[in-house]
Amino acid sequence: MVASGGSRAPLRDTATANLTYRRRRRAPTVPILARPTKIRPGYVRAGSSQEAVITTGDIAPPTPETWAYAEAYTTEDPAVLHARQRAAEVGAVPIGAGGGAILRLLAAAVEAKTVVEVGTGVGVSALYILGGMRTDGVLTSVDVESEHQRLAREAFTEAGIPPNRTRLIPGSALDVLPRLTDGAYDLVFCDADKSEYVEYLEQAIRLLRPGGLVAFDNALWHNRVADTAQRDPETVAIRELGRAVRDHDRLMPSLLPVGDGLLVALKR
Ligand SMILES: C[S@@+](CC[C@H](N)C(=O)[O-])C[C@H]1O[C@@H](n2cnc3c(N)ncnc32)[C@H](O)[C@@H]1O
Repeated sequence: MVASGGSRAPLRDTATANLTYRRRRRAPTVPILARPTKIRPGYVRAGSSQEAVITTGDIAPPTPETWAYAEAYTTEDPAVLHARQRAAEVGAVPIGAGGGAILRLLAAAVEAKTVVEVGTGVGVSALYILGGMRTDGVLTSVDVESEHQRLAREAFTEAGIPPNRTRLIPGSALDVLPRLTDGAYDLVFCDADKSEYVEYLEQAIRLLRPGGLVAFDNALWHNRVADTAQRDPETVAIRELGRAVRDHDRLMPSLLPVGDGLLVALKR
């Protein structure tokens, strides 16, 4: 099962923890409206046409040029660029440069020694995460496609990552995650099957230590999440994830409009 490297975070059997959806009390928001015809003041629901509440300043939404500037702000290593080429060849869409840089920053901020990634792809996000982790840290990464993980391993070798820093586990996320140790991880990054995101959240809360972070890529899902006319299963599942993260009493969330959206939360 464990295909590469060693780890200090052993697999184990565990019961699946229940997700709680307790609603937190919120301080009243004082919206300052950038688009007054579309945004109504007050307490609004994610996934509705009233989703946006702008609470500070008269801030214009980013133009495509501004968004592209932000995405290109950090430069990428040759090994990451090469991994992107491999990703295009096999159709494993990697995280963008902006999201990758945030993952690296988050891993460094919590001095991550143990990280779980759900959806290895060919290793682009893993290279960013490893770049922020402690040099003795181990990344555990799960993917149902062993060919993707083979290419990821090539990318790690090219980047000079020692084999004992990665533990690549082939398999379906919902089969593998329940066997990882409770409370043993500093960061969990999810980027596999969007329709399973709420189940990944349930597992991530169990896996994280207090103070650990969870992040989900594609939290805005090609602009579909904010568009209430979109009802496809992935979009609906990602909206449900957004509500579950926002309303969970042990999570401190932030939805970052970087790349295709990165939903981040700290476990209290
Ligand atoms: C978007 S790609 C991951 C990209 C990677 N995180 C990166 O940024 O380089 C999604 C990956 O999830 C894997 N995947 C899809 N469904 C899965 C599942 N149920 N369990 C585990 N892996 C899955 C796919 O094989 C694919 O490699």
